Amino acid sequence: MSKTFFIETWGCQMNDLDSQRLSGSLKLRGYRRVEDEHTADLLLLNTCSIREKSEQKVFSRLGELRAAKKEGSKIGICGCVAQRDGEAILARAPWVDFVMGPGNVGYLDEILDGGRRLALDFPEDRRYDYLAIDRPSATRAQVTIIEGCNKNCTFCIVPTTRGREVSRPITGIVAEIRSAVAEGRVEIELLGQTVNAYRCPQTRADFASLLTVVASLEGVKRLRFITSHPAEVTDDMIAAIRDHSNISRYLHLPVQSGSSRVLRRMKRLYTREQYLAVVARIRAAVPEVHFSTDIIVGFPGETDQDFEETISLIEEVRYGSLFAFKYSPRPGTSALRLGSPIDDAVASERINRLFEMHEERKRETLRAYEGRILPVLYEGPSRHDSEVLSGRTDDNWTVNFTGDLRTPIGTMLPVRIQQAQHHTLRGEAVA
Ligand code: SAH
Ligand code: F3S
Repeated sequence: MSKTFFIETWGCQMNDLDSQRLSGSLKLRGYRRVEDEHTADLLLLNTCSIREKSEQKVFSRLGELRAAKKEGSKIGICGCVAQRDGEAILARAPWVDFVMGPGNVGYLDEILDGGRRLALDFPEDRRYDYLAIDRPSATRAQVTIIEGCNKNCTFCIVPTTRGREVSRPITGIVAEIRSAVAEGRVEIELLGQTVNAYRCPQTRADFASLLTVVASLEGVKRLRFITSHPAEVTDDMIAAIRDHSNISRYLHLPVQSGSSRVLRRMKRLYTREQYLAVVARIRAAVPEVHFSTDIIVGFPGETDQDFEETISLIEEVRYGSLFAFKYSPRPGTSALRLGSPIDDAVASERINRLFEMHEERKRETLRAYEGRILPVLYEGPSRHDSEVLSGRTDDNWTVNFTGDLRTPIGTMLPVRIQQAQHHTLRGEAVA
């Protein structure tokens, strides 16, 4: 009988993709994936350390896995908590068999065979085997183009857990995308912590050139990328988006705060005015772009005035989506020296105000689509109703619509939007 594995993933797109890579290499070894941790021969936890809460979850989950572990099975901890607390995990949880950091995803085979218990280095050769990725979507492929981050935002632990920036050669990226498209994955999502800092190590091609190359590949119907750093947006990048209609009109451009004073303390490398100027340049070239953002509330020293500036910036940019987090102090980050987080009750009040404001805005945004005909990439029947088709618009809204159920997945269809729902749109395919 074949061996089985169980994998649980928290955190960002990078972690999702790392889990797809781990899962793919296990399947090549003949393992079968199971959803019940009690029956698995190998239990993997792919962890996130971006905020303290996610990290605490790991230690409580470790206890549960110990109870679930059957005779002879193995437990492996991966991801950013593994990277940071590897030795502590082995000391506190001796039932864990190995701990591996994000730099070692390509080395699972060796770790399983060789009994290496602690794999926390960042090997020169990251061994990115794109043929062995277990992709959950039949129409979409995520493709890493750059790992790590060279920015030093004072609140952020990512540079410690994911290492320095390493870009993949453009030839490997193109080969991977060609093979994904040949399998029907016509939507490509390029991934990086600072995706637009990409530089091909061989040709020195920058992100704008990469976008142009990938958008021109045959069969790429939609091209997305995440996450862009505002200070790395160039005119060439904007021109590439403008000139290729298959590049998504959805741009995640985290601002973190609307106050230049806070931005400086965060070392975000731009002021409020510079951020707004980037948004204006993009809107001038590509007016239909839908922006989304991340906000940190309660950064040390954030005053009412600073927060009001965040509110007014959000009003000004009119984001389609917004993700807000309470500041969480992370070990080893330089923001620790800037003082304690602000009073939790105040932070809660501020974050709730953001959410309320955004909910209202989102309802308006979605309602504005009613009556319009939009191209939708058909991804398959809706999860809730198999008689209904489901896909996403160019700017990333989910649309559930009526139409011909024999439509091949991956087809781009014109859909008339009839009604805005809570988080999604409803419509009908038109001839
Ligand atoms: N460039 C990365 C950022 C990763 S972290 C990317 O791919 O998005 C994602 C978001 O988490 C950040 O944009 C920030 O808003 C939030 N975040 C990071 N560190 C945090 C901290 N210490 N406390 C609260 N939120 C944090
Ligand atoms: Fe973190 Fe700033 Fe890099 S948010 S991932 S250090 S761009």
